[in-house]
Amino acid sequence: DWTMASYKDEAIRKIREQVGDKQVICGLSGGVDSSVAAVLIHEAIGDQLTCVFVDHGLLRLNEAEEVVTMFRDTYNIPLIHADEADLFIGALEGVSDPEVKRKTIGRLFIDVFQKYANQIDGAEFLAQGTLYPDVIESVSFSGGPSVTIKSHHNVGGLPEKMGLKLVEPLRELFKDEVRALGRELGLPEKFIGRHPFPGPGLAIRCPGEITREKLDILRKADAVFIDQIRKHGLYDEIWQAFVAILPVRTVGVMGDGRTYDYACALRAVTSVDGMTADYYPFGHDFLGETATRIINEVKGINRVTYDITSKPPGTIEWE
Ligand code: XMP
Repeated sequence: DWTMASYKDEAIRKIREQVGDKQVICGLSGGVDSSVAAVLIHEAIGDQLTCVFVDHGLLRLNEAEEVVTMFRDTYNIPLIHADEADLFIGALEGVSDPEVKRKTIGRLFIDVFQKYANQIDGAEFLAQGTLYPDVIESVSFSGGPSVTIKSHHNVGGLPEKMGLKLVEPLRELFKDEVRALGRELGLPEKFIGRHPFPGPGLAIRCPGEITREKLDILRKADAVFIDQIRKHGLYDEIWQAFVAILPVRTVGVMGDGRTYDYACALRAVTSVDGMTADYYPFGHDFLGETATRIINEVKGINRVTYDITSKPPGTIEWE
């Protein structure tokens, strides 16, 4: 793509001009935006960039390893893997209020990020994968009245607190343009096409009390559901798909024994921007096969339901 190729060259030139010979820190979430920003900045300034990946232990199966392998081994980008799962899960254990979950995660995220960023000598810049819609949204929020349904955890205010200047090379781009830029930078297609994933991760897909046991079960069930969706060639038609583990155990029968295990809900929606969404009309064969696989392959779940609520009135996530 000629346009993106020249956009990339221009962006690299601007980053070099802004940063000079100073050090830059980039918070990597594993999502498309921060990843594209990191790879672009690395092309511009090489090892003057260090990425900090805060692993809160609320990621999907194998996700942390995949991110670390891709950035360290494939791209040779200096990366600090802040494995702080015990800190986050410890603080969340027994918490069931969705807003308390989000605020706890947001607060710890900032603490942890600062702690690791302080280890990088002479850093003067903080890189963020802010997109154009984020810029617009933060402006309109300061205007008229707005209703906050869910307080998205973000790291607003962090640069000022740390005395860092911002590098935001994606500020003029929309999501589809970021994807095109990612392709231009050689990021794998499977990575670029990934569904969005919320900052608080699996914490908000585990309604009710968070426990390590439930998180482990959830990760396995989610991996089976996504595998089914990929195998049936449906992944790219769906905006977001995931499993939520419900805070209830129900009775079942397996072989000649009685089971008393968790119920889960499958969620899959189509959407353009996440503001409104329709549930995905899977065929019954797909749903039946997926339920059988989850119950057979995931110890701890004995009942599978499908969430057919659209947004509004539902939200995409369960919390
Ligand atoms: P809802 O559940 O509000 O989700 O319909 C709309 C989109 O936002 C994502 N989401 C979040 N993302 N922090 C995030 O970074 C959050 O706290 C959060 N809550 C929801 C959700 O995954 C969907 O893409």
